[in-house]
Amino acid sequence: MASSIPSSHLKIFFPILLSFSLIFSISHPAIAASPSYSPPPPSNFTNTLKSYKAFIKQYCSSTTYPKNCYKYLSPYASVIKTSPLVLTKSSIYVSLKQTIKSYSALKSLTKVKGLTHNETQVIKDCYENIGDSLDEVKDSAAAVKNLTGGNTYEEAFEWSNIKTWMSAAITSYYTCTDEFDELTIRGSLQKKITTDVLKAENMVSNALSCVNKFTSY
Ligand SMILES: *[C@@H]1O[C@H](CO)[C@@H](O)[C@H](O)[C@H]1NC(C)=O
Ligand SMILES: *[C@@H]1O[C@H](CO)[C@@H](O)[C@H](O)[C@H]1NC(C)=O
Ligand SMILES: *[C@@H]1O[C@H](CO)[C@@H](O)[C@H](O)[C@H]1NC(C)=O
Repeated sequence: MASSIPSSHLKIFFPILLSFSLIFSISHPAIAASPSYSPPPPSNFTNTLKSYKAFIKQYCSSTTYPKNCYKYLSPYASVIKTSPLVLTKSSIYVSLKQTIKSYSALKSLTKVKGLTHNETQVIKDCYENIGDSLDEVKDSAAAVKNLTGGNTYEEAFEWSNIKTWMSAAITSYYTCTDEFDELTIRGSLQKKITTDVLKAENMVSNALSCVNKFTSY
């Protein structure tokens, strides 16, 4: 089922994310096990921010699209600091943000006039597929909100759900682009849809890499 998210929804995620960093009780072994990026004395802001960004770059290096990962997470360096948990949560919020954007881009395409029968069908299917992805990424974002990185059965269960949802979201993106094998549409339109869908797919893939890395310690 395609779902709709009010755009006002978007605005609340980052403030929520910001507040996370204040209330975390950092207890996950991943944090202890993470490379020693001890930030320099807080008196030197430039140095500190640099080390936070270095941490993000290093963490992103094992994701599917490292450059994209760094590009979209580094603006949150001062929130993420050197916390693998906050980084992982942020990666999910960033992927939710992009999925919402891609979803609304597809929605706009459904209103374009003068489409061929094939084009109408492809856009309709892709819109539905992205809607499914959006539901799954939304569920992941809601579930991760409560997680503290604690080593409990409940948390492990939630992380496992998140992995399942994000994998399903990725599958839905490819279900969309697979349509091009079945139905021939204008090259320019195919390119536009592919770009929109893959932007979201890349972010979700990265977020899933972050989740896998975080839970593999
Ligand atoms: C902070 O670090 C930067 C880069 O290493 C250095 O250029 C600057 O002089 C430092 N500032 C202070 C106040 O120590
Ligand atoms: C998060 O925790 C609160 C308080 O424990 C609970 O009421 C809420 O249902 C939880 N949300 C999710 C998505 O698990
Ligand atoms: C629709 O797609 C089919 C399958 O690729 C193709 O044979 C057909 O020519 C397409 N129709 C139009 C109008 O492009």
